[in-house]
Amino acid sequence: MRVSQLLPELDPDQVETLDLTSPTVHAEHDLSAVWRRLRSDHPLYWHPPRDQNPGFWVITRHADALSVFRDSQRFTSTSGNVLETLLVGSDSATGKMLAVTDGSRHTEVRRIITTALTPAVFDRLEKRIEGQVRQLMARALERGQCDFGDDVAAQVPLATICDMLAVPDADRPYIHRLGSSSVSSHEPAHTTTNAWTSKNEILAYFIELAEERRGGSGDDLVTILANADVRGRPLGTDEIVFNCYSLILGGDETTRLAMTGAVLALAENPEQWQELQRGEAGLDSAVEEVLRWTTPSRHLGRLATEPVEVGGGRIEAGDVVTVWLASANFDEREFSHSERFLLDRTPNRHLTFAYGPHFCLGARLGRIQLAATLTALRDMVAGIEVTGSPKRVYSNFLGGTCNLPVLLKAR
Ligand code: HEM
Repeated sequence: MRVSQLLPELDPDQVETLDLTSPTVHAEHDLSAVWRRLRSDHPLYWHPPRDQNPGFWVITRHADALSVFRDSQRFTSTSGNVLETLLVGSDSATGKMLAVTDGSRHTEVRRIITTALTPAVFDRLEKRIEGQVRQLMARALERGQCDFGDDVAAQVPLATICDMLAVPDADRPYIHRLGSSSVSSHEPAHTTTNAWTSKNEILAYFIELAEERRGGSGDDLVTILANADVRGRPLGTDEIVFNCYSLILGGDETTRLAMTGAVLALAENPEQWQELQRGEAGLDSAVEEVLRWTTPSRHLGRLATEPVEVGGGRIEAGDVVTVWLASANFDEREFSHSERFLLDRTPNRHLTFAYGPHFCLGARLGRIQLAATLTALRDMVAGIEVTGSPKRVYSNFLGGTCNLPVLLKAR
């Protein structure tokens, strides 16, 4: 059963009036039938302008998504990589934050971060994550009733990224609160003003931290970025700060959604849960299927730089192009039984971390966190019972379950 089947299904005949920019549309409806219709009948669909928003292309097939992600020359990220920024025509972090930088600057700054993420760093983080997940799970089992989103899933990703950035313990709840409200919301009445205020507060916080760490010798990412240089010139404060912001945002809410969505999917698919418990489903394939099933980033966007053919149609230079991972990850042309949650699915070429030059920098970390969650569930939990309505995020960018009241029974 799809997680989204808990929600009313949106009629595919309403596709013409559908507003894909609306957070409510994503939070309160099951769009599976709409995606199926678009994949089969309109693989390149023009979403008409609505209210103040200009129109944009909607790409829903897996193969077309790959061709866009592969080609950062014709599909640039420098005007933004999500609808929110693309529709206003720019992103204030262009050229300063990896996700909205292309070309050689992107390669050079990405290299600084990836070389800092050594196998030794990953080993250290993995041990910490496994210990932390087991501890949180033990506490949840002691209490019996818990909100898996708040009590377990929300605690792990932030702690991991804050470890990478060496954010002091006392500041972590503050960063988490700002992180959640700067990209999505757990409440329908969320406004763009809230989002901008939160974003600016995070940036201000990291300006101070980076200044403190200039000249320092620590191996945390803030210190590394604050002291790195590209072709003999140090990174600007804005470049350091925007990239810290992107690590927090990239890894916090997305991983929470995947972890919480994993528990909901296991509760709704008891035969898969039993396979996991009996060790019949391998952990690696289970992690990949959870990533596909939950698809925390619903869409990504690009701007076309020249005329190009995709999905049987023609996109013009200057057009906004959105790629819906929420659809591509369920494309029946790529995945057999795409609407089923199958922990032993292979191959599983999901696009949850995108593809190409902007492929998620934290993919390995996301996988480690999910593996730790599935291992702790398998080894410590005998039964999962959903005891209340799951709550979903209100956002057109992030999607999934942020709160999940459950009763966990110890093994
Ligand atoms: C399940 C968890 C995660 C999901 C679903 C996810 C998803 C994504 C996606 C779809 C992109 C591509 C953006 C684009 O092409 O425009 C991306 C990029 C990125 N992610 Fe993740 N992410 C996750 C975890 C993490 C973690 C843990 C971190 C940090 C430690 C992180 C940091 C980043 C960064 C910095 C980028 C930009 C890379 C670039 O543009 O070169 N992500 N992520």
